[in-house]
This record gives sequence, structure tokens and C-alpha cells, in this order.
Amino acid sequence: SFCFAKNEIIDSNLAQIHPMDITLIRGYGIFDFFRTSNYIPLFLSDYLDRFIRSAEKTHLKLKYTKTELREIILDLIQKNDLQNGGVRMLLTGGVSANHFSPADGDLFIFCEELLFPEKEKYEKGVKLLSAEHVRMIADIKTTNYAFPVWLSPSWKENGAEDVIYHFNGVVSESSRSNIFMVKNGSISTPNNHILHGITRKRVLELAPECNIRSITFEELLDADELFITSTTKKILPITVIDKQKIGDGKVGEITKKLMADFVDMEV
Ligand code: PDD
Repeated sequence: SFCFAKNEIIDSNLAQIHPMDITLIRGYGIFDFFRTSNYIPLFLSDYLDRFIRSAEKTHLKLKYTKTELREIILDLIQKNDLQNGGVRMLLTGGVSANHFSPADGDLFIFCEELLFPEKEKYEKGVKLLSAEHVRMIADIKTTNYAFPVWLSPSWKENGAEDVIYHFNGVVSESSRSNIFMVKNGSISTPNNHILHGITRKRVLELAPECNIRSITFEELLDADELFITSTTKKILPITVIDKQKIGDGKVGEITKKLMADFVDMEV
């Protein structure tokens, strides 16, 4: 396959990153990830805006405009024949004299195969394990996922799909997804310490009555329905948190309706 690396489109196997880049030695860099649906990069404008915003907020210089990025991406999708797949944009922190300060980084854009969770998980729902944690600079899509990567073997051991973060009793998000709850027919989603997901944004368009507010972990456990949203999971129902069944333990009606409506937003 082909990728974009440091100014040119090359064979993906030939892409190189300097070993002293602070993305590697300090975990400091930004990325974004979107998918194609029948060759069309879904909601691309939103992802590019977020990527550009992440660069600005992390003091990293993105040498390309939104229009230039879009052209490179469309070219790559065509060259890789990426009908239904993922596209990853990465801007590294660069190599700096003190091996710490943000420097001039490199831009990489990769096309990837994308596998969604199995059908059964959408039909029956999945389990999350809770962890007391809050992401720092949460609204920036940084490359630092050390905490959930460290946790992830325990999910496997416990038959869980992922984690749900809470801190001081307040819920934020999952490791790579946002969360929504339904109680007595009304939908809510947390407002603080989250990445503003593009899938979350689409769900808010489908359910404009949704309350964007602070949600306690206690409330979450007492919800009738829960689901998480992300580019790689779409809308995935949650039926268990730790050892606690959510609602009646089945995928709820409002969740099902949103899952169906969301499919209609794809091309
Ligand atoms: N994760 N929160 C975090 C911390 C994320 O990393 C992501 C995305 C989301 C959901 O955002 P979106 O709906 O725009 O994908 C929320 C990507 C998919 C990943 O790292 O795999």
C-alpha cells in the first residue's frame, strides 16, 4: 500500500520515523482517524478540523492547509483502492535539542484495514470495566494511550470490551469512545474531560434533545440503556459495567433506533 510520509506519497513499508522523535520517547504527538464508506471519507471536514485544532493546541506546526490535506487523502484513497477502510493522520512531536520541547514534526497519513466488532456484540451488547482515571488535555487527540493499553489485558481476562473512566464520581468517556446514557426515555452524555467525538456529534444531530451534562458514575450504573460511540465501533450497546447489569441487561429501544438511524448517515 501507499502512504503519505514527510511530503510525499511512498510505499508504506518505507515510511520512517526518527527514534528520538518525542512522539516515541515522550508520547507527545497528535493523530486522527476516520473511515471511508464506498470510497467516500465519511465526515472528513469534521475530522480535519479536529486534527488542525489538535495541532494548534499542542504547539505543533501542521504545514498543510485543510484543502491540501483533503487532496492528499483523496489521492491516497484512490491509490490504495480503499473502498471501506480506515485512514490515520499522524503529526509527530519532532526531534528537539533537549529531547523534550515540541519541535517540527513529520506528517504521516496511512490507509488501514478496518474491522468492526462482531455482529453479536451489537445484538447483545458488551461489558465495560470501570477505572478511576481522567484524561489530561482530553479534548486533544494525542498519541498517548499508555493507561488503557496497560489496562487492556485485564479486559480480555474479564470478558470486557473496554474501560469506562470516572474520577471524583464523575464519568467522562471510554478509552477510545464517548458514552451516552438513557434514563426514563431521556438521553444524556458527559460534557467534561472528553474528546469531542465526531460520532458523538452525529448522534447529537440524530437526538438533538440529548442533555449534555455532568453524569455521576452512580447514575450511569442506574441507567436503563447505555451505548458508546466511535469511528471504529459506530454505536455499540453496553449491557454490563463491572458486575452490574444495566437496565434489563438487553439492548434498549432508543439505542436500537439510534443504531438504525446512524446507518442512514453513511453513503
Ligand atoms: N478513538 N474518545 C477518545 C479518547 C478517542 O480516542 C476516540 C476515538 C473517541 C471517539 O471519537 P470519534 O467518534 O471521533 O472516533 C472518544 C479512535 C477511533 C481510536 O483511537 O481508535
